[in-house]
Amino acid sequence: MPASSFVPNHPRIHVTGGFDELVTARFADGVNALCWPRMLEGDFAEVAAKLDVGPGITHLTEGMLRALPLSPAGFRAAAVMIEDLQRLEAHGLQPTLDCINGYVQPEETGPVRTDVCSWHADSATCEADTWLCTYFGASSEGLSNEDAVRRVDVPGTRAKLLNLSGGDDDEGFHEWLGDHHYDLHYEPLLGAKPYSFGVGNLWRVATLHEGCAVPPCIHRAPDPVPGQKRLLLIA
Ligand SMILES: [Fe+2]
Repeated sequence: MPASSFVPNHPRIHVTGGFDELVTARFADGVNALCWPRMLEGDFAEVAAKLDVGPGITHLTEGMLRALPLSPAGFRAAAVMIEDLQRLEAHGLQPTLDCINGYVQPEETGPVRTDVCSWHADSATCEADTWLCTYFGASSEGLSNEDAVRRVDVPGTRAKLLNLSGGDDDEGFHEWLGDHHYDLHYEPLLGAKPYSFGVGNLWRVATLHEGCAVPPCIHRAPDPVPGQKRLLLIA
């Protein structure tokens, strides 16, 4: 594999030497993002260009990728994606390969955005992490917990939400926030410096769940650019 692509030196990121270490590394000492830096070989742009997909998210199957009329470089790129899919499946995960061709207009969600392009933490009902790799297009980004505040903790926003819920700031309100996923979305603080997940790197990031030793990794998908596809793996 050629020299690895750039991963920032960051106290919340631990860089691993390969897949085995990515799987076994622990979230501890504040580290909530594990990365296997990779510079992948193959023409991912060709794969994206040859996928005949409509707007929004299309789940890609192994069969769809194998059926594309690809050059040798495009074939190598598709093979990398399939290999990642199989690697994560063998590890007991349920990965999907997606082609994102712009986003469908996010639903109107009230005073707090809850779409994937808004800074957010993933949550899980059991011990589960989020796995991510961008193969082509703009990559996902991360934000240090120190650089962010939950939108529901911003006084003006909280007041609007309380008004909308029609209740008091009590247990019922907290449940209502959770039901609408409002409590998972964050606002960057002034001067915050997000980091890029980069292209080709495989990430395993911490979610919000009972008993997790570290705060969840705050991240977001890039804002869509009309006419530009992205290829990614998510589990
Ligand atoms: Fe997410």
